Amino acid sequence: KSLKAYFSTQFLVGSAINAQQAKRTEQDTDALIIAQFNTITPENELKWERIHPKPDTYDFSLSDEYVDYGLANNMFTVGHTLVWHSQTPEWVFEDAQGKPLTRAALLARMEEHIQTVVSRYKGKIKGWDVVNEALNEDGSLRDSKWRQIIGDDFIEKAFTYAHAADPDAELYYNDYNLYKPEKSAGAARLIKSLQNKGVPVHGVGLQGHYSLTHPALNELDDALTLFASLGIESMITELDISVLPFPSEAEQGADISQDLALQKALNPYPNGLPKAQQDALSARYKEVFSVFSKHHASISRVTFWGVNDANSWRNDWPMRGRTDYPLLFDRKNQPKPAYHTLMTTPVR
Ligand code: G3I
Repeated sequence: KSLKAYFSTQFLVGSAINAQQAKRTEQDTDALIIAQFNTITPENELKWERIHPKPDTYDFSLSDEYVDYGLANNMFTVGHTLVWHSQTPEWVFEDAQGKPLTRAALLARMEEHIQTVVSRYKGKIKGWDVVNEALNEDGSLRDSKWRQIIGDDFIEKAFTYAHAADPDAELYYNDYNLYKPEKSAGAARLIKSLQNKGVPVHGVGLQGHYSLTHPALNELDDALTLFASLGIESMITELDISVLPFPSEAEQGADISQDLALQKALNPYPNGLPKAQQDALSARYKEVFSVFSKHHASISRVTFWGVNDANSWRNDWPMRGRTDYPLLFDRKNQPKPAYHTLMTTPVR
């Protein structure tokens, strides 16, 4: 029994993998990835700051291992991500004197990066998160350096360059909170405008960093209906469900290690998840997957953001030092109750 087999009539099932996992350093995690998943995404290894840290320096050592891992295991191998406001070195936007680049110079730099990276993995990486997180919560375009210097068309340029580098690769727009009505409407406007200009865009990635209360299922359902109406595929690209309370801004600024009450409130299960919360997580996974299954005709892939609870970024966000339980496999790579619940819920 495996996730990939169980959902094989609906969508691919995958995981983000980190550098250690691409290097196969842990035998049991390696066996789990190969047994359970048929698609992978690099958690960090293809980000600009990792592969292109200086103007004339590329470092493909980790990304090559990642791509080889996907090829060796016959997995649909995803590229993440080409153009993002985050994890991109400052020099990208500056000339040698530290002055902001002109539009033409930044476009040339973007094209060179995309051409170099996408063509290196032509035919091996099958789908790319071309542009990541370009939208504000109200659906307008985020005021990133990319947009400030190039203008709104930085997005269509990125897709056009990626398509030129590998015409067979699928190209995606990826973002978080795409279940929120205003933000999904903004994404739909963006995708329609690309389509109207003849820019190749094949899918939208809904990241899926969820909690026990968000998203509302009807909002998720509506967003998936909206994206299907555009004739593109949808993907759940970074799925995890936090069981911890989300801290207020004041709490995020506090020193959790010095405040026992806060520690207890924000990190309530440091020694393991009690049965009631395991059950809540199982029920939550079941209900979000019921929405995914309803939309299986347009959803091509569901990817978890990490293999097991130990390697989830959510232990450190929005504050460090918490113990979260957002995935289907525990810190010893054992399937959690949520896994068994999913694997016994009939798929339509
Ligand atoms: O590997 C270094 C280590 O050598 C160093 O000592 C340490 C000190 O901070 O940092 C380590 O790198 C960290 C890396 O995660 C690996 O753990 C980076 O600081 C940290 O910024 C990085 O965070 C990643 C984050 O993106 C930023 O790139 C998370 O792992 C990764 O899960 C997260 O993923 C993003 C998606 O790309 C886009 N959508 C949201 C998602 C969650 O934030």
